[in-house]
This record gives sequence, C-alpha cells and structure tokens, in this order.
Amino acid sequence: MGSAAPVLEAQGIRFGYPGVPLFERLDLRLEPGEVRVLLGPSGSGKTTLLHLLAGILRPEGGAVYWQGTAISALGEERITRLRRRFLGLVFQHHYLLPELTALENVLLPGWIAGRPDPGRGRALLAAVGLEARADHPPAALSGGERQRVAVARALYHRPPLVLADEPTGALDPVHAAQVMDLLVGLVRDTGAALLVATHDERLVAGWPGWRIEAGRLVSLEA
Ligand SMILES: Nc1ncnc2c1ncn2[C@@H]1O[C@H](COP(=O)(O)OP(=O)(O)O)[C@@H](O)[C@H]1O
Ligand SMILES: [Mg+2]
Repeated sequence: MGSAAPVLEAQGIRFGYPGVPLFERLDLRLEPGEVRVLLGPSGSGKTTLLHLLAGILRPEGGAVYWQGTAISALGEERITRLRRRFLGLVFQHHYLLPELTALENVLLPGWIAGRPDPGRGRALLAAVGLEARADHPPAALSGGERQRVAVARALYHRPPLVLADEPTGALDPVHAAQVMDLLVGLVRDTGAALLVATHDERLVAGWPGWRIEAGRLVSLEA
C-alpha cells in the first residue's frame, strides 16, 4: 500500500441485481483526507455502491482499490482483516450492542484487534460531547446520542477511510446537522477521508461530491 495512492478508487464498476441494472462503468476516486457526499434519491443505489466500495459486495466488472490494493482480487478473509484496519462504517441505524456501555461500544474495534485503549475511547466520547455518558447503555441514550457513539466507534481505530450510509437518516434536522458536524470534525482531526451517502440534499448543501445519475456519478458543483 503506497501512501501516494488514492485512499479509495473504483474503476469501471458494473453491478446490478437480477432485473435491476444499477451501475455501468462507474468510476470514483477519493484522495486522503477528502470529504465527499454521494447524493441520489431512495433506490438510486447509494447503499449498494457503499457496499461495493466496502468490499461487502463484489462488482461484476471493474475493480475497487484501497490505497492501491485491488480488493476485488482478495479472498473474503483477507478483505475482512484489511477492512478492520482500513475502514470505519456508520449506518442509519447505530448497531450499538445493547448489553455494553457507551464506552465499551466505542472500544469494540479495539477488542477485535486485541488491544482496547480506554483513554482513546474516552477522548472520542468527549469529542462527541458524551464524556459524562460513558457508562450508560445505549437504551439510556437518545437517538442522536446513540448515533454520536456510533460515530466515535467508527473512528476509534483511526481508519484512513470512513463510509457513512444515511448516518443521520433516523434523526430530526437539528440533531442530524449536529451529528454530521461531529462526524466531519472527527474525520478532519484524524485525517480520514469520508464519503457520506444521503438523500437529504439540504443537509449537505454546498459539499463537493457526486450524484448518482443513470448508473454513473456526476460531479456536484461545489
Ligand atoms: N439484495 C437486493 N436484491 C435485489 N434488489 C436489490 C437488493 N438491494 C437493493 N436492491 C435494489 O437496488 C436498487 C438500489 O437500492 P439501494 O442501493 O438500497 O439504493 P439507495 O441506498 O440509494 O436507496 C433498488 O431498486 C433496490 O430495490
Ligand atoms: Mg440506502
């Protein structure tokens, strides 16, 4: 993995579901630290594209590169191991484990890697304004607070790339804007690149990025 390579590159991606053609020769490139949005109405293929970029789905044609490594050529086990280091994921639903505290949830990527660092977990919780809630379970938190824990968890292992799929889709506009600001602030702090998929054009007005149109990406005017 050379550091000069783009953090993420997709070349000539072709993909569809039976009877649902979605992408035909789609290209995308993200440099280290870049923050970009992926716009498109519901059903346009945002989630599918993020899954292709995350190596969860495999393209029928073309290739996905993580820092220059063609992941499409790797086996599932290699991709999973690489993903744990390389990728932070945020979804519309927080997917916190209910039996763990907020802090323990943030530390999960550390447990998986075998060396959790509670100091880093607390610092991340502080960064999303939840230091005082470290020992609370998700059930004791509001929807916006849970999503802030999920954001902190996604950044815990300092991934070079964060993919967020409608990360504020379950929140009201005020809390959506707050979570989005925290997410962008944290990726800027850590130097991660970020791709956020959303159908909410107002939330990301003025951001650079792309719109999915007819199976390809069209650049947004920044
Ligand atoms: N597992 C699947 N099998 C068949 N069709 C699917 C599957 N997942 C998504 N689709 C279809 O692919 C299209 C894009 O879906 P999706 O990627 O979820 O779009 P978005 O995230 O933009 O709403 C939709 O028409 C959807 O119904
Ligand atoms: Mg979706």
